Amino acid sequence: MNLPDWLTILPDLDALNHAAAREFVNCALTAIRDRGRFAVALSGGNTPRAVYSLLATEFATSLPWGKVFIFFRDERNVPPDHADSNYRMANESLLSRVPIPAQNIYRVETERDPRTAAELYETALRLFFTIKNNDVPRFDLILLGMGDDGHTASLFPGSAALQETAHLVVANWVEKFKTERITFTLPVLNAAAEDLVIVAGDNKADVLSHILDSPATVRYPIQKVHPVNGRLRWLVEQKAARLIQT
Ligand code: 6PG
Repeated sequence: MNLPDWLTILPDLDALNHAAAREFVNCALTAIRDRGRFAVALSGGNTPRAVYSLLATEFATSLPWGKVFIFFRDERNVPPDHADSNYRMANESLLSRVPIPAQNIYRVETERDPRTAAELYETALRLFFTIKNNDVPRFDLILLGMGDDGHTASLFPGSAALQETAHLVVANWVEKFKTERITFTLPVLNAAAEDLVIVAGDNKADVLSHILDSPATVRYPIQKVHPVNGRLRWLVEQKAARLIQT
């Protein structure tokens, strides 16, 4: 099978993390050159932690941090200092270690109930991107991960938010974890200038092989990510790609 042009397989985690950090920096420099600022939505989970650490160390001086604006493409329903908080992970690994102004960081206010937090975050997006009515913000970059059930952001298989077309951000009940999560909806993911999916780990191999072997069959939420007027890139560690037939 010929691999699709949006897919790059990296030999190990170190290569994956470096490729992702380089892509982040290139995307940021292009956006800043063209539009004077870089609006990026970070991903949560575990995979991006090492990418964020690289951005805070090896790549820290590559970026004018005052022109970088940080959002969260999904958040767990926990306080910002909780061990499960995506904000906390990004703050510890990146944000607290680079000279980014506090007002450039837009975190989800999980101190509120999930529905209110989602509404407030949607309002923050509308104000930042100065959009009205049915328009959808265009992030320069949205980082994405993929779970071993094919979820992305907090769009889990079978969950209601997958059907959402009116809202930019919603509270989504995740039956698997018996909890609400706050998540961007598909229209936001698909309006980005670039969606960068970073996939590591052996446990993703089955889903990845299903996606690539039968691309016409949409079984997983991640397969609904197709930027309408942007670029899709997947960076995948070899371990996660081991079942792909080449
Ligand atoms: C989260 C994420 C989620 C994550 C995937 C993959 O809050 O858990 O936003 O969508 O990106 O579960 O996570 P890993 O890359 O850590 O496996």
